[in-house]
Amino acid sequence: MVAPEPDIDLRHHGDTEVAPGLVDFAVNVRAGTPPRWLAERIAAALGDLAAYPDPGPARAAVAARHRRDPDQVLLTAGAAEAFVLLARVLRPRRAVVVHPQFTEPEAALRAAGHPVERVVLPPDFVLDPAAVPADADLVMVGNPTNPTSVLHPAATLAALARPGRVLVVDEAFADCVPGEPESLSSRADLPGLVVVRSLTKTWGLAGLRAGYLLAAPGLVRALADAQPLWSVSTPALVATRECSTPRAVAEADAWARGLSRERAAFAAALSGLGLRVTPNAAASFLLVRVPGAQRLRTELRARGIAVRRGDTFPGLGADWLRTAVRDFETNSQMTRTLAELL
Ligand SMILES: Cc1ncc(COP(=O)(O)O)c(C=O)c1O
Repeated sequence: MVAPEPDIDLRHHGDTEVAPGLVDFAVNVRAGTPPRWLAERIAAALGDLAAYPDPGPARAAVAARHRRDPDQVLLTAGAAEAFVLLARVLRPRRAVVVHPQFTEPEAALRAAGHPVERVVLPPDFVLDPAAVPADADLVMVGNPTNPTSVLHPAATLAALARPGRVLVVDEAFADCVPGEPESLSSRADLPGLVVVRSLTKTWGLAGLRAGYLLAAPGLVRALADAQPLWSVSTPALVATRECSTPRAVAEADAWARGLSRERAAFAAALSGLGLRVTPNAAASFLLVRVPGAQRLRTELRARGIAVRRGDTFPGLGADWLRTAVRDFETNSQMTRTLAELL
């Protein structure tokens, strides 16, 4: 069904739920980031600020990391810029956004004047490719998806790609998954595929604005033509290059393994309190269903803990909350507080 007007605030994001003094379970950026080695390299780039940015080395590094050619890479000021460029350049006849998911892709399409059709997956948010209209010529889906944390199989997503359709897979959280087995980032063979990636989450660089997309050279050129010149700053380019090295990828992978363990333990603890945790979580957060979630969120806030409301995601309602997965101690603090409140 074409959603006539945004019925909810698509521009609400978790950062507005955080405040000084609150323990942050609302934003999914990895705690303790950026790592010192990365911060130092970004800081060293400040000596080069007099020159205009040169995207060449970062683009080559991203291409090598995903086994692509550099002409299949467009560096962007975060994934957010990628969504805006796609919305401004593409001329979809039937644009479909698979929800619940991050709301900026839909917001960008609407801002560019495109009608948007929603395919809303019911809990537990397993993607059925048959739910996507066959004649949709633009399909946007997240993997793993924010806020559900569900990881769709690569084969399911690949089945959505076809000539005459642009398939945008938002992989902003793909590096939460050890080995990234379901990522399509290296699939140059799939027609119309656009993979969007972000450095924001795993590397703690939300304020820097660094991301990129991977697509066929023709589409990359069209998007680059629409992109403001020098859109990605020199420090962001340095970060992109440094986060694409085999050493950085290995570091992210090691973190992702630890995250999997903490997430499983946290999910079990929350389930033990009677909360319904969306199964098969694969990202750095959990989606939880609990009657009276709005009240619970307010009470948690009064106890110094910020979680993300669920009702601003299409397909969810007042009974949903999203919580980041932190380290064992911090997760335990949340579990204890919830146990008291429930
Ligand atoms: C799924 C998803 N994609 C993309 C983004 C935006 O990433 P960036 O900071 O790179 O623009 C977010 C931020 O919350 C997100 O949750």
